[in-house]
Amino acid sequence: MGALILSGTSNQPLAAQVASELSLTLGKVEIIRFADSECRIRIEEDVEGKDVFIIQSLSNPVDEHLMELILMGDAVRRGEPRKIIAVLPYHSYARQDRIHRPGECLSAQVVAHLIESVGFDKLVTLELHNETILGFFQIPVVHISGLSVFQQEVEKIKDEVVVITPDAGALKRAQKFAETMDLPLALIEKKRDLDHAHKIISMRVVGDVKDKTAIIVDDVIVTGGTLVNAAYLLKQKGAKSVIAAATHADFVGGAGKILNESPLDQVWVTDTITIPKEMHFSKLRIFSSYTLLALAMKKMIK
Ligand code: R5P
Repeated sequence: MGALILSGTSNQPLAAQVASELSLTLGKVEIIRFADSECRIRIEEDVEGKDVFIIQSLSNPVDEHLMELILMGDAVRRGEPRKIIAVLPYHSYARQDRIHRPGECLSAQVVAHLIESVGFDKLVTLELHNETILGFFQIPVVHISGLSVFQQEVEKIKDEVVVITPDAGALKRAQKFAETMDLPLALIEKKRDLDHAHKIISMRVVGDVKDKTAIIVDDVIVTGGTLVNAAYLLKQKGAKSVIAAATHADFVGGAGKILNESPLDQVWVTDTITIPKEMHFSKLRIFSSYTLLALAMKKMIK
């Protein structure tokens, strides 16, 4: 009996913090990459009868991290644990939650099936792009709002804040955040060019932002394009300052520079994804997510 925490390679510092918060240590796993990049996993712990948590952010390189998770899940299952729980601080493929154009794959569903196929009993994740993907899983999913880590900070400037949703898809998330904190909400309508990845065609603000601190809440930053375009627009409409608050920072090269040189005054993210030192920038502030994850996991430990 008992609980064991294992970590893939995507975010070991976060996994170690979660383990320490739960007064546990990280179990030993051998993760080897062959010369052709193929991965080999060996669990170096006795998992029999235990509740085994596997912590892995599905961040860039997404498919490598996903494959590690799947192979770790299978290796654990063969040791006859009581339960295997996937803890995904960041769940990628969640943006491909529907078929946008004929001929596309329903990737979020495929990934859900893949995770379930190796015998995970439960999944814990933070700030999904869209809650509809919960319906792709047969196993229970515990979905935590990552934005809650920013609340204390927002509380300090509450009187002047308007919450911004950067596109219609993110409305529910922003609405919930604004309602919880009793704040006004404004909307940005964003149109993407579906034939060109990351390209935005147009944006429009609906609501009053004049002389306010506009806090744009989002699930993930990748290129920074969505937030930078939104920040230009919000400043044009009279916002006094603009803060971006996004749970996941899956930065690609150059995102830091774009964000730092933009009209954004601050960029708040959490540590669900490891941000290498060379990608840090002066406007960036990283909030910790380990207590949220540890709290959810604690409830599951028998
Ligand atoms: C899109 O719908 C997502 O919620 C994010 O707004 C988007 O993926 C961020 O990507 P980028 O930083 O490349 O604009």
